[in-house]
Amino acid sequence: WLISLITLGALLADEPADKTPPATPPVLAAFSDSPKVKTRAEWEARVPALRDAFADQIYGRLPESREPVLIDHKAVSADGITGASAAGEFILEDPTLHRRFSVAYILPMGDGPYPAIMQFSFCGNPLALGGREAFSAPFNGAPDFCSRFANMPLPEGDDPFLISMPVERLLAKGMAVVSIYAGDVIPDDREKAIPLLEDLSPADDPAVRPGAIAAWGWVASLAVTQLETNSRFDPDRMAVMGHSRNGKAAFAAMLFDPRIDLLWAHQSGTGGATLNRSYEGESIENITGGFPHWFAPAYRDFAGLETELPIDQHMALGTMAPRPVLFGGGWDDLWAGPMGAYRTAEGADPAYELYGLSGLDQTDPEEMNANADIAVFIREGTHGTKLSDWENFIAFVSQHFGLDE
Ligand code: GCU
Repeated sequence: WLISLITLGALLADEPADKTPPATPPVLAAFSDSPKVKTRAEWEARVPALRDAFADQIYGRLPESREPVLIDHKAVSADGITGASAAGEFILEDPTLHRRFSVAYILPMGDGPYPAIMQFSFCGNPLALGGREAFSAPFNGAPDFCSRFANMPLPEGDDPFLISMPVERLLAKGMAVVSIYAGDVIPDDREKAIPLLEDLSPADDPAVRPGAIAAWGWVASLAVTQLETNSRFDPDRMAVMGHSRNGKAAFAAMLFDPRIDLLWAHQSGTGGATLNRSYEGESIENITGGFPHWFAPAYRDFAGLETELPIDQHMALGTMAPRPVLFGGGWDDLWAGPMGAYRTAEGADPAYELYGLSGLDQTDPEEMNANADIAVFIREGTHGTKLSDWENFIAFVSQHFGLDE
């Protein structure tokens, strides 16, 4: 497979100096000659090696264990939350660094097991769940910028949500609302994160030490293990979502954890849904220079050499087949490369076709098809998660998780 991955690089080696984006290589073209992938079984046989390639060249290697240590399971009052039947939180510890984090949840009415919508929060679970202080605040503090959201009213109309989930809207659809703050395990701070990531690394090779993006995804995997052992949550309907850097984490979680059933990566950009080869928005040089703790050091070797990366994000999406995936973007959010995410979606189509699915089934990047297994919406405006973006996600989840409209 390595040789065939290199073929993809060779195919694209004639990249013109003006950095015109190359056509998106279809995901199976990577394997067109040695030997050609024609069946689902052949594709699935490639997937473990592809996941390893993503670990070694972009995200870093993760510990094998996905078993958290359960420290406590507490009930939290759901009074005043319209449509909630109960709320609570699991206090977990990761099995390697033994750092604590909380998995907060609010359950809808009706009978379970409920589909779970898990969001990676920026500022901790109380703010993510609408300013509800009964949930544990981050154990090791939140990023500085979070203080400005502390006493802010919830957004109105279609203002960007960014920090909080539309809890009552999700409950009304019968979804369990789940929030994690992965920054409790690996803080989003270069100085603090790198020594922890070195300790987390299962490999001796410093080039493949995990980045924070993959490590946050691993924290979501630990949470999934906990939810899957609780009969109130449906193990076959676990969705993850994240915005921006958290969208990259959600993308990595879906890539490395086949137990996750559905992904929404919103404006996740480079290192997330956006094709490295798209030359749109943030480059590998920008992201690895600005955020050296986010990825394996090996990724930096491809700064300015995007077309030499033997893998690209469409191949990661191909490994997610047949699971449903939604990408959101904004036309003015050029830094996150909205069309680069659309091209990732186009390139992954052949892998979904092996499952008899249509994959991306839309011709206009603005018009997502909620029935399709890969859907993209690019809307007007800039960076942020708006209520209307959540409504697109709700339509997509409802379709794929069989929830009533
Ligand atoms: C920076 C970074 C992006 C990231 C974004 C965010 O802009 O360059 O890669 O997605 O922060 O997380 O908001």
